[in-house]
Amino acid sequence: MDQIASLYPEHISELNKRVANALEKESLTALVIHSGQAHRVFLDDQYYPFKVNPQFKAWLPLLDNPHCFLIVNGTNKPQLIFYRPVDFWHKITDIPDDFWTDSFDIKVMTKLEDLTVLLPKNLSQHAYIGEHTDYAQELGFQSTNPKTVIDYLHYHRASKTAYELACMRLSNKIAVKGHLAAKKAFFDGASEYEIQQQYLLATDQTENEQPYSAIVALNENSAILHYTKLERSLPAERLSFLIDAGANYNGYTSDITRTYSFEENIFSELIAAVDKAQLELISMMKPGVDYVDLHLAMHQKISQILLDFKIASGDLEGLIEQGITSVFLPHGLGHQLGLQVHDMGGFLSDELGSHRAAPAAHPFLRCTRTLAENQVLTMEPGLYIIDSLLNTLKNDKRKSQINWQVIDQLRPFGGIRIEDNVIVHADRIENMTRDFGLN
Ligand code: GLY
Ligand code: MN
Ligand code: MN
Repeated sequence: MDQIASLYPEHISELNKRVANALEKESLTALVIHSGQAHRVFLDDQYYPFKVNPQFKAWLPLLDNPHCFLIVNGTNKPQLIFYRPVDFWHKITDIPDDFWTDSFDIKVMTKLEDLTVLLPKNLSQHAYIGEHTDYAQELGFQSTNPKTVIDYLHYHRASKTAYELACMRLSNKIAVKGHLAAKKAFFDGASEYEIQQQYLLATDQTENEQPYSAIVALNENSAILHYTKLERSLPAERLSFLIDAGANYNGYTSDITRTYSFEENIFSELIAAVDKAQLELISMMKPGVDYVDLHLAMHQKISQILLDFKIASGDLEGLIEQGITSVFLPHGLGHQLGLQVHDMGGFLSDELGSHRAAPAAHPFLRCTRTLAENQVLTMEPGLYIIDSLLNTLKNDKRKSQINWQVIDQLRPFGGIRIEDNVIVHADRIENMTRDFGLN
């Protein structure tokens, strides 16, 4: 039996424990978790790619089958209502026979009308967990996505089971293959579009199977934080390349970024400085450390880099307090990672759903949790030349602290981000990304 299969029963028993606790709080009997329904394009007969409910794929790696339901109560063997229509238009998902199937009582549903027969008769103490709440009410559910249950599950989801950690290592392993192929394509002279094709080929993914749309950016495009355009044509000059791309394994995602300079110059030195800062920040991680403090430590390191490269002048703390570091690095240090690229629960400070907001000066930080064993996080400092943000500095006294000549020199290179996926263990940090050979 392979490792994934051998770790899986313990994963299911942990999820059962969580469900039993969550149900007790709400005096509910069971959760009915819907895989989802495909969304149709407005005034069209085409459907958007199906994205399964993350609460559903937490239980089993069934990612492509709408209209399925899980019935879980924390005690009995979980039931899976598996939708398998008679349909000559589409490929029908086979009745599963895999490492996970023995963990479920599986009932096959060939017609949606049969659902009422397959669901429990009295749903008044059952909570529906899914997106289609109007449909759930038509089915007879009185409780849909109860906040206490969702908060409880999201809070505990931060602590990955051994099965989940094994899946996340494999999703890193796959993505690293893609990153190495993309790096080669960049140095071989490929366009953004061609680099993306090389990435997909090396990771054996279609575009829709990627956990998020990859950012494949040459030159100044790398300063656009969510750039997804994919230019077919080559830029006149090849200066720099940023790729932020992940992979999926059994529904678990990786989220990795690297930046390259075509030649050795000030930009390659800046990349090396951000890379060094990222590794130092990772070495500060351990259980009990506040992720917000790591984010603030990142601003100190970026401030030092701005001073070292004479991009800005002033004192280290002053550049942070005046918001100058945030102009060069507007996003957060990173986020929780797992079933979703921005895994839910980043602001929960306890299992009751208490919310801890990001500091007012750092509104885009997505995680305010205290690090604990078995959490998986991204660590992704960056440094970008973003004119729309730099322009705000031009209109006030901070203008004189910026070395606009160096800004002009760096602008064609765009920006830098270095992003790894790490596991917090009791006594060490595991950097899954670098462990698979991406440096
Ligand atoms: N790829 C999105 C992010 O890094 O958060
Ligand atoms: Mn990313
Ligand atoms: Mn990320």
